[in-house]
Amino acid sequence: MPSYDVIIIGAGPGGYVLAIRAAQLGLKVACIEGRETLGGTCLNVGCIPSKALLHASHMYHEAEHNFAAMGLVGKTPSVDFTKMQEYKSGVVEQNTKGIDFLFKKNKVDRIKGWARITGKGEVTVGDKVLQAANIVIATGSTPASLKGVEVDEKIVVSSTGALALPKVPKTLVVIGAGVIGLEMGSVYRRLGSEVTVIEYLDQITPGMDGEICKTFQRSLKKQGFSFILGAAVQKVETRKTKAIVTYQNRKSGEETQLDADVVLVATGRVPFTDGLGLDEIGVKRNARGQIETDGWKTSVEGIWAIGDVIQGPMLAHKAEDEGVAVAECIAGQKGHVNYGIIPGVIYTTPEIASVGMTEEQLKEQGRAYKVGKFSFMGNARAKAVFQGEGFVKILADAKTDRILGCHLMGPSAGELIHEICVAMEFGAAAEDIARTCHAHPTFSEAVREAALACGLGAIHA
Ligand code: NAI
Repeated sequence: MPSYDVIIIGAGPGGYVLAIRAAQLGLKVACIEGRETLGGTCLNVGCIPSKALLHASHMYHEAEHNFAAMGLVGKTPSVDFTKMQEYKSGVVEQNTKGIDFLFKKNKVDRIKGWARITGKGEVTVGDKVLQAANIVIATGSTPASLKGVEVDEKIVVSSTGALALPKVPKTLVVIGAGVIGLEMGSVYRRLGSEVTVIEYLDQITPGMDGEICKTFQRSLKKQGFSFILGAAVQKVETRKTKAIVTYQNRKSGEETQLDADVVLVATGRVPFTDGLGLDEIGVKRNARGQIETDGWKTSVEGIWAIGDVIQGPMLAHKAEDEGVAVAECIAGQKGHVNYGIIPGVIYTTPEIASVGMTEEQLKEQGRAYKVGKFSFMGNARAKAVFQGEGFVKILADAKTDRILGCHLMGPSAGELIHEICVAMEFGAAAEDIARTCHAHPTFSEAVREAALACGLGAIHA
């Protein structure tokens, strides 16, 4: 019977990163994946394909709206959606094959099939039985279902179906104003769909800094999004080529119906643990179906869990960091993840990024803080590329000036946020960023200006 130091179940960003790091640390590693290709939801039907479609549709938007202003005149390109889908699939293929290459390079055994934990240190895949001192569950998550709504991946789709529509729908209703709803909504809005987002709460992207939520919503409205907030979707009925969405205003109780060519259900994701045999071996889960862990150890000795199947934000990079930490723990080192400094990014235009505490959280804690804000309208580079919308907001401790959080809306926000992440990891003050020379003209100058605004004041405001 093949025997390993570590068997990882699931080859998403958590599992494959763990496999590579564990192999680099000298451990004998196998990674079991049921999908044909490696990379999990992120590479196959999540982060990567959505970024390809966001890029293509953004280029189209630029051609439609900004090319003429730069003297690039002539016919605006039209959309060949089949070709765009091929481009997306090519991007996915390059990335998933990249993981195959990395597995070979690092001598990770890739095992195809759906795994079941069948005993202490024992995993069964089809008719193969494997043994390992350590088993890591990295099986990720799957779209949450919504009562009264049946997903057929044709008219009523999850994020998976939304990435593979045969044509651009004339009308799209998105249920849920979270990350998936707004990213995929942006793709189709830019390609010409009428997009209506129905959200249960009274604001979009709940949990994010309140000021960002409001400004972001205003920006999306300007792009042509319609929002129905404070509304609970009751049911979605499908006809031959259409869906009828019934929603209820949460305050008045009034029911309204809306037609759509396609309905995207984006109301969150749930841990995926089907078929693993967790009940039989006694791995404890909480009421939300997440595997309970302490230092990524489950309730059963020798079984670990990371990523979307455990608590915390369902983000690829959070899973990756946990993967590295568990590999280090198994190799006898000390693994560590700083859960206070995990950035979140929404890849719309403008892009949204945040890390650390929000103003609302600081108020709730009664913590004395100061705010340094700078608008991208004062950033020369942003204005030159039609992206002067948005701002950088740094929150720092009122007394010590230590950075507590940062919230960004604007060009390359998802890249800029990492300057703040590094600063926070080093326990930096806003003044440390303010006194660091930033190249001109870059978007990053806006971050420095926000840091300056935590002190004497920004220069270009
Ligand atoms: P989400 O949790 O971000 O948002 C779901 C939204 O649906 C919430 O605003 C919620 O209030 C709303 N909702 C729930 N039930 C509803 C109902 N009956 N009617 C109307 N609205 C309802 O979930 P989402 O967007 O599905 O994303 C799932 C996970 O995937 C998240 O954890 C997200 O962080 C992750 N993800 C991250 C991405 C990124 O980092 N850029 C991209 C895509 C997904």
